[in-house]
Amino acid sequence: MTDNNNIRPGAETRYAHELKALIADDQYDKPPGWKLSPRAVIHYLTGGPLGDITIEPKYLGNRRILELCIATLLTDRGLLLMGLPGTAKSWLSEHLAAAISGSSTTMVQGTVGMDENQLKYHWNYAELLQNGPSEKALVKSPILRAMESGHITRIEELTRMPTEIQDILITVLSEKMMGIPELNREVYAVKGFNVIATANDRDKGVHDLSAALRRRFNVVHLSMPATLQEEIDIIHFRLEQIQRDLGLDKYKMPLQYLSDLVTIFRELRNGQTDDKNTKIKSPGSTLSTAEVLSVLQTGIQHSIYFGNGIMEPDDIATSIRSTIVKDNNRDQGAWDEYVETVIKSRKGWKAWYEAFHRTTN
Ligand SMILES: Nc1ncnc2c1ncn2[C@@H]1O[C@H](COP(=O)(O)OP(=O)(O)OP(=O)(O)O)[C@@H](O)[C@H]1O
Ligand SMILES: [Mg+2]
Repeated sequence: MTDNNNIRPGAETRYAHELKALIADDQYDKPPGWKLSPRAVIHYLTGGPLGDITIEPKYLGNRRILELCIATLLTDRGLLLMGLPGTAKSWLSEHLAAAISGSSTTMVQGTVGMDENQLKYHWNYAELLQNGPSEKALVKSPILRAMESGHITRIEELTRMPTEIQDILITVLSEKMMGIPELNREVYAVKGFNVIATANDRDKGVHDLSAALRRRFNVVHLSMPATLQEEIDIIHFRLEQIQRDLGLDKYKMPLQYLSDLVTIFRELRNGQTDDKNTKIKSPGSTLSTAEVLSVLQTGIQHSIYFGNGIMEPDDIATSIRSTIVKDNNRDQGAWDEYVETVIKSRKGWKAWYEAFHRTTN
């Protein structure tokens, strides 16, 4: 933990002490340009003791997935993390970049209106008009900077970029080179450079990924937590981290409510009750793990500032409803049916049923 005052310090700042200890302890060979050996990167991601400190786990899930990500980054192909919203694609990409390059901030956010300069370079126009193209006038994109310094660069939401802009990455990934014809020179990527991209496969992005570009990436799919307990564990551990960052370490989360909340989201997402006995209409909203996390954070703040300091169904019911019912016409029916058929008759859920009723009255 750092005493950094930023709302959300980058992974390399927040976990600077862990990275420093891992670098000092690292006995294994480091690939060229890497700050840590692949084994130490896994240690950083999965957590565990290291001398007299404990490395916090960052990603809860299949270790083999992490090994595959790291192995990919050692090849000449980029890593493309795909998966439903909230499956920790961005989170994992940030931590991989922090552990491998010591910096996770060399990042491009894919947007619909993007132009190629944002992936390549543009110019400081005052300088360009006065003195013509020069190194001084050149404004490098994060990708160009990562190529020069041998770092990992992150591309968020790759498929939101228009296909012809995505295709600029083909040369970057296959030739490891970017030409700057105005200066009559080429930049060749230094060892250690690679790309981690993320794409959401629920919305399918706005644009497709071209086959040529897809061949230059290894695609790793991150999946939703398979069981209720796995999802509870992920949320519990992330919530504790977030609370620590907010100075709310002393706040004790009522674990039964956390488990109930995850159950509600999972059942609606899966279209059936956890015991598989009752079919349920699924609303159209995403209902991801990340949304459960944000509902809980709202509930905790509500209980602290408007309630008795311990989260109860009343602190959180409105937030649950508005997360699930995003489109009134489509989702309201599914939600009402779930409240009246499942929540109403479930043993020990009276407080939830009453709280949800109060949200509509
Ligand atoms: N398996 C997991 N291990 C650790 N944290 C997880 C896991 N799954 C989800 N999370 C948490 O969920 C939150 C959302 O993750 P993130 O923003 O990376 O999702 P995403 O896959 O990039 O979603 P989107 O497609 O909406 O961009 C993060 O706080 C992350 O820590
Ligand atoms: Mg993301």
